[in-house]
Amino acid sequence: MLDPNIEILLTEEQIREKVVEIGREIARDYEGRELLAVAILKGAVIFTADLIRELDISVSIDFMAVSSYGSSTVSSGVVEIIKDVDIDVGGKHVLVVEDIIDTGLTLDYLLTHFRSRKPASLRVCTLLDKWEARTVEVPIDYRGFFIPNEYVVGYGMDCDQKFRNLPYIGILKDFV
Ligand code: IMP
Ligand code: MG
Repeated sequence: MLDPNIEILLTEEQIREKVVEIGREIARDYEGRELLAVAILKGAVIFTADLIRELDISVSIDFMAVSSYGSSTVSSGVVEIIKDVDIDVGGKHVLVVEDIIDTGLTLDYLLTHFRSRKPASLRVCTLLDKWEARTVEVPIDYRGFFIPNEYVVGYGMDCDQKFRNLPYIGILKDFV
């Protein structure tokens, strides 16, 4: 599944190793507690699915869908909730799971939203951190990789809904 317009940044193997590593860390930190992992649709779905299978603790999952980009790839700064969680997060140990944190605007909005619902604890896990693009500071508790300021696809991440199925993460070349 190699696309000539995609340059591999992280291989399937590198991702797998990292997911195992983060999973161990989370399982250790939440031992004896009930974790609620909230995956941010759609990009974080593949990462979340792999991550929770590494967690040897009691875990529930829920989903939230937000829109910040529309179909364009430049962050608008406007975040809209398209689907909220079904579970009441009050008193729960919430872990927000993201595919990638870019400007930080989406996460910043989500954290404010979750805090107002009084969870017992609130942490953030992201597979990728595009740190150079950050415009608002956000706390990250579990991070897979720091990556350069390039548009990436694969392992759940898309460009106009395509490439989510790639097992690796790649940089989209000739990207405008
Ligand atoms: P932020 O609000 O700018 O931090 O962007 C957050 C969301 O935008 C991420 O959770 C992704 O869904 C999406 N996003 C940001 N950068 C990329 C990228 O390089 N590839 C695919 N999606 C991205
Ligand atoms: Mg996302």
